[in-house]
Amino acid sequence: MRFDILTLFPGLFTSVFAESIVGRAQADGLVEIHLHNIRDYTTDKHHVTDDTPYGGGGGMVMKAEPILLALDDILGAELVAAQKATGEVQVPVILLTPAGRPFDQPTARRLEEYGRIVLICGRYEGVDERINQLAVTHELSIGDYVLSGGEIPAMAVVEAVTRLVPGVLGDMRAVIDDSHSSGLLEYPHYTKPAEVRGLGVPDVLTSGDHARITRWRREQALLRTRERRPDILARAALSEQDERFLSGLPDAESSEPG
Ligand code: ADE
Repeated sequence: MRFDILTLFPGLFTSVFAESIVGRAQADGLVEIHLHNIRDYTTDKHHVTDDTPYGGGGGMVMKAEPILLALDDILGAELVAAQKATGEVQVPVILLTPAGRPFDQPTARRLEEYGRIVLICGRYEGVDERINQLAVTHELSIGDYVLSGGEIPAMAVVEAVTRLVPGVLGDMRAVIDDSHSSGLLEYPHYTKPAEVRGLGVPDVLTSGDHARITRWRREQALLRTRERRPDILARAALSEQDERFLSGLPDAESSEPG
């Protein structure tokens, strides 16, 4: 899997990508990450990457030309243009923006299948819309809040997609059971010791009865999802047993903050 990242702050990525799963995936040759400084593609004396918005208002807008030049250099101008002209995407060109479609686990899976993606980190108030018109194939948001730029969102996309690259996670069961992969939030986990500050472990987990453990975990996942993310529960693939369990519960009432 290859990632090309266009940013004004390549230094932000170095330590994040050097460690943990993404670091190991690169060391193992499963993932390649290429950082490109947008400023290197400016053609003026002062290396300006932003300007004031047409129509007025506050803030600055990232200029189109440096980003378009970077994309032509990284992917080739023909591919960039052909993807927009035909709608047939070979290498997704993704702009991270709070105005994008939500980035979720199914999107991560689809992106992994391309084998290569380009991530553009916007800054300031936004980017010149002609970048979208000429090159961007996907606009993605990592959540309904505003960050100062697309760098942290790009890190999130790289990490979520890297975890799906075959061979990156040793134990594939960990991916399958993850929150969201199953369509439900994950069940609660416990590890040793058996008692922590007076709190024990649910008896079922020490029963050795694997069928009961599987059922308990599923029910916990259903309970959590119903309470915290009813929107996800409505879309989840549920068995008849799941439906029976849910219909036997008293009406959902959120007891947690947020
Ligand atoms: N840039 C700033 N905020 C963002 C968000 N929530 N998602 C993606 N890109 C962003």
